[in-house]
Amino acid sequence: MNIIVTGASRGIGYQTVLQLAKSAGNRIIALARDHEQLTRLQLESRKVQPESEVIPLVFDLQQTSSYDDALIPQIKGHFTSADILINNAGLLVNRTFEQLTLLEMVQMLTVNFIAPAYLTKLIIPLMTKGGHVVNISSMGGFQGSQKFKGLSIYSASKAALASLSECLAEEYINKGISFNCLALGATDTEMMRAAFPGYNAPIKPNEMAKFIAEFAIKGNQYFNGKIIPVSTSTP
Ligand SMILES: NC(=O)c1ccc[n+]([C@@H]2O[C@H](COP(=O)([O-])OP(=O)(O)OC[C@H]3O[C@@H](n4cnc5c(N)ncnc54)[C@H](OP(=O)(O)O)[C@@H]3O)[C@@H](O)[C@H]2O)c1
Repeated sequence: MNIIVTGASRGIGYQTVLQLAKSAGNRIIALARDHEQLTRLQLESRKVQPESEVIPLVFDLQQTSSYDDALIPQIKGHFTSADILINNAGLLVNRTFEQLTLLEMVQMLTVNFIAPAYLTKLIIPLMTKGGHVVNISSMGGFQGSQKFKGLSIYSASKAALASLSECLAEEYINKGISFNCLALGATDTEMMRAAFPGYNAPIKPNEMAKFIAEFAIKGNQYFNGKIIPVSTSTP
């Protein structure tokens, strides 16, 4: 399978690529800004399964004006088709609404919403029937969930991503491409520690990654246009 995972340099994305790389034949574009970490991921996955391939792609998702001319040509240089897109990259600035600057708001909305939306738009032409777009959202953006001070724009951006998943499932129903959204609960990563200092998350990144990887491969047989809470705790 040809798979694209954003936010692959650490945390949940890194582990998701490792999981997907366990299956021989999978080719995975691993996108993030941290080149060193992506190279480490490539080497580690080679040891796990030499017959899969991890392709590091260094790109800053905030550079939205470069998607058409820089990002997509690089992706097309490796893939003529895409089976799965996992929009996992995320940005969280933990600051009260009053203290958040406009720049911080724009950065969060860009990485958490505009980037997955526009990347999805550009990847869809590479997808055929059976394609699956998995958007990684948060319990913070899940309707009716407990909300937390300092996470307003982050949570709102994740709610927008969840809503987009529902809308696109409808819009592409005749093409056979599925769109689902996983609203993750607390998982022990750098981002979680920034959001909830001192809190011990019950789930490790490799555990969450196992679920995401399996869902990305099989979930579209059972779900389309769904926002699925993946959480055992609050937060
Ligand atoms: N951990 C949790 O408890 C939790 C809960 C709910 C939802 N989530 C969601 O799960 C996803 C993964 O979270 P995580 O905890 O693994 O976060 P993390 O450890 O902070 O990792 C975030 C990833 O996103 C990438 N990223 C951020 N800005 C980017 C940019 N401008 N361009 C390209 N890549 C960028 C980072 O790579 P570079 O810095 O190398 O670019 C990194 O690989 C996020 O969408 C997050 O919102 C996490």
